[in-house]
Amino acid sequence: MHGEATLIATAAAGFVLAFAFGFLAHRLRLPPLVGYLVAGIAVGPFTPGFVADSALATELAEMGVILLMFGVGLHFSAADLMAVRRVAIPGAVGQIILATLMGIGLAAVWGWSLGAGLVLGLSLSVASTVVLLKALEERNGLATPNGRIAVGWLIVEDLAMVLALVLLPAFAGMLGGHSDGHGADTDLITELLLTLGKVAAFVALAMLLGPKVVPWVLKQVARTGSRELFTLSVLAVAVGIAYGSAMVFGVSFALGAFFAGVVLSESDFSHRAAANSMPLQDAFAVLFFVSVGMLFDPSIVLREPLALAAVVALILFGKSIVAFGIVLLLGYPATTALTVAASLAQIGEFSFILAGLGLSMGLLPPEGRDLVLAGALISITLNPLTFVAVDRLASRVRMGSYGRKRLAGLEEQLDELQRRHAARESERGLRIQNIVDLFPIFAELDQEAREDLLMLFQPRAAAPGERIIRKGGRPDAAYFISSGAVQVNVDGREIPLGPGEFFGEMALLSRARRSADVTAIDYCQLLALPERDFRMFVSKHPGLRAELDRLAAQRRTMNREPVGDVAPAV
Ligand code: CMP
Repeated sequence: MHGEATLIATAAAGFVLAFAFGFLAHRLRLPPLVGYLVAGIAVGPFTPGFVADSALATELAEMGVILLMFGVGLHFSAADLMAVRRVAIPGAVGQIILATLMGIGLAAVWGWSLGAGLVLGLSLSVASTVVLLKALEERNGLATPNGRIAVGWLIVEDLAMVLALVLLPAFAGMLGGHSDGHGADTDLITELLLTLGKVAAFVALAMLLGPKVVPWVLKQVARTGSRELFTLSVLAVAVGIAYGSAMVFGVSFALGAFFAGVVLSESDFSHRAAANSMPLQDAFAVLFFVSVGMLFDPSIVLREPLALAAVVALILFGKSIVAFGIVLLLGYPATTALTVAASLAQIGEFSFILAGLGLSMGLLPPEGRDLVLAGALISITLNPLTFVAVDRLASRVRMGSYGRKRLAGLEEQLDELQRRHAARESERGLRIQNIVDLFPIFAELDQEAREDLLMLFQPRAAAPGERIIRKGGRPDAAYFISSGAVQVNVDGREIPLGPGEFFGEMALLSRARRSADVTAIDYCQLLALPERDFRMFVSKHPGLRAELDRLAAQRRTMNREPVGDVAPAV
């Protein structure tokens, strides 16, 4: 089977072993992630037995990175990123510079070239967003201010690495390598400007056009009422934008996917998009860790024990201490500094990509890449322990009043963002939870159906005296009253309807003309459900359809009775 493993075989081996070792790891009270890495080593080329195709595994892993970064984007709006920019930007940039210098220093001690040192340093300076997300998720830390700072910091790092990846080939010749024809002859300034221009154009396009186009497309899909099509559209947006932006603008898949998520996070579909893509994210993220394990050559531990120890020390302590210091310098409390430090004490996806590129350009010696991979494996495995250690430390340090104020300020800002987000949602009419409180007719609907309704409803206002429905007219929509009151006039009968009641459903159900006049008698906030959406929705929810039919029949009977005989039925 050696070397012949196909996509299915690779995926099967990856999933099955990851599951088995993940489960075992859990039993041993280790994070499942360690199990996934071990599964990778087991199917890797450096251990006997079955060998999966590492090129394929890497591509599958890339899928995991795309989906995870999309997930990060979904939970991380542009406003969030702006809120933490004062710490994330100087922090990440400062930390990359210092960590890279440490890497260059280490390489100099080993007698490597400056180019090799630069690639090594950059590879060690950037932490893995995937690993950080898993760590924060497990600790429920994603929504906390410290978690937000850490994620923002890593996103800035990712952005910096995209630049580094594009610029490295341009500098390769100067640093003593060869650039594989990656713009070797173009002059540096042009290359730099072109790269920056492309990234800026991509970000501008994503932020300006994205929020208009993507939610519109998803809304059209959601209106079809097909869950399958919706999931597919989310996947298409994530993977399509990731791939397209990588091809057109030269940004990485990960960054493209992140912006796809950010674009969606502003829309009303972010929750559902997140819920829909979650299982895929989980599955492919596992393959990411398996593929890291596959690349690992255990013999490095025997060949270069000292060098490996130095690399691991740099990742675990060098970077963390630098990050810790920077966060304190920026005026944030020690607990924040500790969280950021622990978050950064690992390396991952970008490090492999950088090391691979450095190797292909003749900058980094092969053992450099082995060291980066071994360093990644060890630091990722130890990361949960780092967090435990940090927790212990954090419980001992006291927050200075200045740092506390800073963090409280940020917390307030993030809360404010949350509030604004909530306000935006309620502006559309009313919140999902409230639909049922207000309209008992929807009591039997599940959460997703309520979300659908919220999306389909079109808010409409009416002033006293305004005729909303004319008897004998063609039906266009059904109306649900959020506030105010209307009066139904039918054959000399006057029936008032108030909040929580609805009208305009009878003609839609019986495909007839309007049976009565309906006029606003107060300032009304209405939620209109257009005809096409009404039909689609009731056909998907037979229980609701039956209830509406029953009530319509009651209304019809009432209208046939002589005036004054029956109490109004609703
Ligand atoms: P439709 O026939 O589409 O347009 C007029 C609406 O008035 C009708 O649907 C009902 O929603 C509403 N309506 C008609 N008769 C009554 C009634 N007896 N009680 C409450 N509402 C009514």
